[in-house]
Amino acid sequence: MKHGNVEFDTYFKNYPDANGYFGKYGGSYIAPELQVAMNEIAEAYQTICKSSKFIAELRRIRKEFQGRPTPISYLERLSNSIGTGVQLYVKREDLNHTGAHKLNHCMGEALLAKYMGKKKVIAETGAGQHGVALATAAAYFGLECDIYMGSVDIKKQAPNVARMKILGARVIEVTEGLATLKEAVDAAFTAYCKEYKDAIYCIGSVVGPHPFPMMVRDFQSVIGIEAREQFISMTGELPDAVVACVGGGSNAMGMFSGFLNDPVNIYGVEPLGRGNKMGDHAASLTYGEEGVMHGFNSIMLKDENGEPAPVYSVASGLDYPSSGPEHAFLHDLGRVKYDVVNDDETIEAFYTLARLEGIIPAIESSHAVAYGIKLAKTMGKGSVLINLSGRGDKDMDYIIEKYGIR
Ligand SMILES: Cc1ncc(COP(=O)(O)O)c(C=O)c1O
Repeated sequence: MKHGNVEFDTYFKNYPDANGYFGKYGGSYIAPELQVAMNEIAEAYQTICKSSKFIAELRRIRKEFQGRPTPISYLERLSNSIGTGVQLYVKREDLNHTGAHKLNHCMGEALLAKYMGKKKVIAETGAGQHGVALATAAAYFGLECDIYMGSVDIKKQAPNVARMKILGARVIEVTEGLATLKEAVDAAFTAYCKEYKDAIYCIGSVVGPHPFPMMVRDFQSVIGIEAREQFISMTGELPDAVVACVGGGSNAMGMFSGFLNDPVNIYGVEPLGRGNKMGDHAASLTYGEEGVMHGFNSIMLKDENGEPAPVYSVASGLDYPSSGPEHAFLHDLGRVKYDVVNDDETIEAFYTLARLEGIIPAIESSHAVAYGIKLAKTMGKGSVLINLSGRGDKDMDYIIEKYGIR
């Protein structure tokens, strides 16, 4: 299948290129001493992670420890309640060990760290899901683990902070700026610059300098590979549409990668938060422009000085002023349509899925559910597969306090 001048039959061979570019997006914009460390990781990824020993070990871990494959569930009551005849399905990454997709790349990154002889893993976290997943991987492989987290998110995601500590990680509070995800990435990068000889930076999404966007996508592609096979065996056909929420974009890239070469409409959902005024949302692909941040070129939200703009979303995991370079590429190409849902629509979808299906979704994933419902209302027939990236246990206290029980 072709889109613009891109041939999707051979897409994964050609994107990213050897320097980490998806078209004009991606690359590596970092200090020379850190580039040495990135080259080491890129080289290790190409050799170690492509070896049959590594692949066999990761497969075993996914099956025996993570509980993969995660199932797809048909949402019968929700589909009936919409009443257009459109069938809704969810890929249950909420049932992946630790409750979200993040463990898919964390086990891969930590296994790579182990093969490279590193002693420590370092990362940022927003919602705490990546932090919990990495703390879990570090405990599993016997590595030290430092997690940087903004003080706003520490308060909002208290259960995940406790989980990281129980798992033996150090949670380092970041108080600069808005004290959310962007500042946590800044702090984790700074720490990594000092410690790169003994540590590896395990980035939490398909962002950062090459090779992270490629590496995280490849580790997350298990979602799309499983989902495509499962959906066809359940229904005998492909879904008409696939939907995922986009923060940095890892769960979405994992899901989308399975369907890029298929006649399937693909939708990435960004957080519109309180509205479309700058500072009230984090819809970077929808409202942003080209720019470099955290070592990669992508589409980002900028303030009047060209710096990353302040962003907001009810979902800590989507609260980031940019998205991975591959999303920027797919956006410009028109292969994926990026759209938005706001906080209110998200909270409504959170309760709808809980009440009609007995699944409490993460507030990030609720964005995808809200969009899937909206989309199903506009379609006359067909099917929509939503990536349910995580479960909502971490969000319950916050939602009850802010929105009450509906
Ligand atoms: C459950 C869940 N879904 C989605 C995201 C967003 O990240 P990404 O866009 O990388 O999938 C997060 C981030 O913390 C998350 O916890």
